[in-house]
Amino acid sequence: MPNADVLIVGSGAAALQAAEKLCHQKNVIIFTKRTRYDGNTNMAQGGIAAALAADDRWEWHYEDTMRAGCYHNDAEAVAYLVRCGPEVLRQLLEEGMAFDQDESGLSLGQEGAHSQRRILHAGGDATGANLLRHMQKRVEGRVRLIEHEMVLEIIVQDGICLGVATRGENGEIRHYYAPHTILAAGGAGGLYEFHSNNSTITGDALALAYRAGCELVDLEFMQFHPTMLYVDGRCAGLVSEAVRGEGAFLQNSSGEQFMKGLHEQQDLAPRDVVARAIHEQMLQGERVFLNIAPVEKFAERFPTITALCRHHGVAVEEALLPVVPGAHFLMGGVRVDLDGETGIQGLYAVGEAACNGVHGANRLASNSLLEGLVFGERVGRHILQKPDVQAAPCAPAPQRGSGRPLPAKRDIQQRMSRYAGIVRTEESLLQMKTWLEECLEEEAYGTLPYESMTNEEVTVHNMLTAAWLMTRAALQRKESIGGHCRLDGITVSGPVAPIILTKQSRQ
Ligand code: SIN
Repeated sequence: MPNADVLIVGSGAAALQAAEKLCHQKNVIIFTKRTRYDGNTNMAQGGIAAALAADDRWEWHYEDTMRAGCYHNDAEAVAYLVRCGPEVLRQLLEEGMAFDQDESGLSLGQEGAHSQRRILHAGGDATGANLLRHMQKRVEGRVRLIEHEMVLEIIVQDGICLGVATRGENGEIRHYYAPHTILAAGGAGGLYEFHSNNSTITGDALALAYRAGCELVDLEFMQFHPTMLYVDGRCAGLVSEAVRGEGAFLQNSSGEQFMKGLHEQQDLAPRDVVARAIHEQMLQGERVFLNIAPVEKFAERFPTITALCRHHGVAVEEALLPVVPGAHFLMGGVRVDLDGETGIQGLYAVGEAACNGVHGANRLASNSLLEGLVFGERVGRHILQKPDVQAAPCAPAPQRGSGRPLPAKRDIQQRMSRYAGIVRTEESLLQMKTWLEECLEEEAYGTLPYESMTNEEVTVHNMLTAAWLMTRAALQRKESIGGHCRLDGITVSGPVAPIILTKQSRQ
């Protein structure tokens, strides 16, 4: 007997958009491992890109997305994204979502590698928080949203997804069955020491999908955002690229504006270029600052960043914000088609957890909330057209593990930053892979003995699995392109063959 028509793992923009499409006709349950606010949507600052201005065209948004992605993108996915973008945004505006306005109408921001000002924002730099609340309100009372319940495993029987196994706060393991399950649990920024993500984003979706038997693709492409606030050797949070879009620029301790001459778009060059330039400055012993003096009314336009700086004792009035690059967005993920189908019947993926090729080797700024909205809607509509056939479940067999001790999260994060970070080599990646394989229990490559583990241990295990998959992909991709920089490889600029990992292709 199914518990619902659709189970959704994750509660961000992509999950809520799919839920909204579905909830008028289907019973939907959403699971989130902490609260409904713990995810990357709530933290998104920059905004949502769409060719809405009278003097903009979706074709230009298409070209910017492809160029940033090094033409490794799926052209059909990109065309769908940028053509649907304006309509999805108009819909939100009609529903009353309050995007910022100026004297000419919608206030459109500028971000790196965009040829036009086309970023809609809300509450200055609190776009994600505003969007999340709007989307939560739309589905309130129509879906069951279960907080503090972690999905431990996707239940797959004879190649068909039957539902999920979870564990909530009371420690009880539960099985939920439904004909459709959507993975929308985000990416893997939390695998790194410096990152912009919510601390719950630890590669769970990748590990769940891998153990379920899905294909994973493009996992070597991790985007490092150039500017995290850097205080006392720690990353304190994101400083939006929109700040550079409003005129701020990077400089080192001697005041040198090192992006000049490095790239024609200077401080607004694609993120991989800017992040590597900062990384190199730091390797030379320089400190790097974002000079915000040219930004008019900084505190008004960027209230979230201003509050972040004040909280960490950085005076915005002095106009020099110390910054460091950090992991931000995973371009790769669970391999899906444009409808979000994974290849396992009844299992779908969407948002950062998924990869339909829309971002190529490097995502264009402010395309991620757009992706969640556009493809969340598409997967929802797709499921509405599918029959609700629930296969009869057998009770999942308990998995036994050897209870080997797991490393600390910080150890994984520091090693990933060092050996599989902004730049990588075969040697560093092999070192990482060897360590990960020593940590992972042999049997857990396939199934996880979650009954004998705590939720925290499952999280660490997921981190190890996701790190292992990303490291293997990075080892296999010998050339540098987009978000993947191999110091020992040649740089290519065009599309490259995808690297696909599955349980069967283990090596
Ligand atoms: C930012 O505000 O810089 C991040 C926006 C994005 O990654 O799309």
